[in-house]
Amino acid sequence: MRTQVAIIGAGPAGLLLAHLLHQHGIECVVLEAKSRHYVENRVRAGVLEHQSVDVLNEAGVGARMMKEGLLHHGIFLHFAGRSHRIDFEELTGRAVMIYGQQEVVKDLIAARLAARQPVYFDVDAVSIHDFDTGSPRVRFRMKEEQHTLECDFIAGCDGFHGVCRATVPPQQLSLYERVYPFAWLGILAQIPPASHELIYANDERGFALLSMRSPTVSRLYLQCAPEEDVEGWSDERIWNELRARLNVELPSGPVLQKSLTPMRSFVAEPMSFGRLFLAGDAAHIVPPTGAKGMNLAIADVHVLARGLESFYRPGSRPGGSAAMQALNDYSQTCLGRIWKAQRFSWWMTSLLHRFDEHTPFDRRRQLAELEYIVSSRAAAQTLAENYVGLPLSP
Ligand code: FAD
Ligand code: DHB
Repeated sequence: MRTQVAIIGAGPAGLLLAHLLHQHGIECVVLEAKSRHYVENRVRAGVLEHQSVDVLNEAGVGARMMKEGLLHHGIFLHFAGRSHRIDFEELTGRAVMIYGQQEVVKDLIAARLAARQPVYFDVDAVSIHDFDTGSPRVRFRMKEEQHTLECDFIAGCDGFHGVCRATVPPQQLSLYERVYPFAWLGILAQIPPASHELIYANDERGFALLSMRSPTVSRLYLQCAPEEDVEGWSDERIWNELRARLNVELPSGPVLQKSLTPMRSFVAEPMSFGRLFLAGDAAHIVPPTGAKGMNLAIADVHVLARGLESFYRPGSRPGGSAAMQALNDYSQTCLGRIWKAQRFSWWMTSLLHRFDEHTPFDRRRQLAELEYIVSSRAAAQTLAENYVGLPLSP
């Protein structure tokens, strides 16, 4: 088997990259360890920055998002018994789109299949080879048969636990990491959202977030201990805790899904090694408080697709230095923006969660910072411009 770009992982990063490359006439094969049903139903992120919306629309895969997604012009910060609105529209002229990650994934898979392009689900034993040479290879098993995929480039879009970053010799990697002493318990519930916009709550009992997926489905999160067992959280306990922290009239309803998300900040540098490029969660993780995970994945592959497109552009000499330049810049171009999103995600997490090690001084400082944000236009604007998304290119 041979292709131009082998893409490992059919999450938002891998699928969008495949779509962008196909639009430029570049061949690729997507290899995914899980089933199509699994990746289409994995409930994860829900907020798209305005530029992510633009990227999906420009790529021609935004029609259902524009119809079913919910455009939000602000959020509420709730603390010390009161809610305060941060008005994105007024502060930045921008908005964000609420549209589930699994819907983005469904739209991208549909586009790939409609174009009759290869995406192989349920593959296993994926291994990557010779990416430090001009002829990389990917080996994998599919339907009990062993295959070798020869290619020009490998895109490691296989998430945090994937095989691509793990194959890079450790001495070539610098890792930066922070693990937080709490996790999020997330639920999807069949109830209309109790607020028309997201509520981020800093409560004495811990952080809570009210989000949504549609006018009839809510997505809600609670800060909890990282070692907690989801089974220990009955529906009744979850609803009571959410009501106590969010301070809204919240009807109980059927809980469709429950999961625990650990909280971590992580960056691997660089993001390219010869002819291997890491993108999305394979290279970096943010704690979800800033709603940046899926957006960073989209931004990475937007840059990578541009680099690959200039490499394969008719007239550019394959392997020539001009052709490689955009690809050589990939890591540096992405990392500048990634570190700003890291800072913002860490800051939102520090601002809104309950930390057991906090002294009464730390708690008062946290509340003073929230007060400052909701009373100073400059401070509110800083939050707003990061939340709606910093520019894609420097
Ligand atoms: P992924 O979506 O992880 O896709 C990687 C794909 O690679 C997967 O489909 C995986 O099955 C596949 N894969 C892995 N290993 C292999 C292999 N060896 N061979 C082939 N395929 C492989 N972000 C937010 O902003 N808000 C949230 O609320 C939020 N919640 C999250 C909850 C969880 C449990 C997790 C794990 C992440 C959450 N995120 C959230 C982060 C966000 O979902 C990710 O940033 C986003 O999925 C990144 O996309 P990706 O394509 O880089 O990686
Ligand atoms: C959602 C997730 C987030 O991490 C966030 O900050 C806001 C919304 C969501 O899943 O809807």
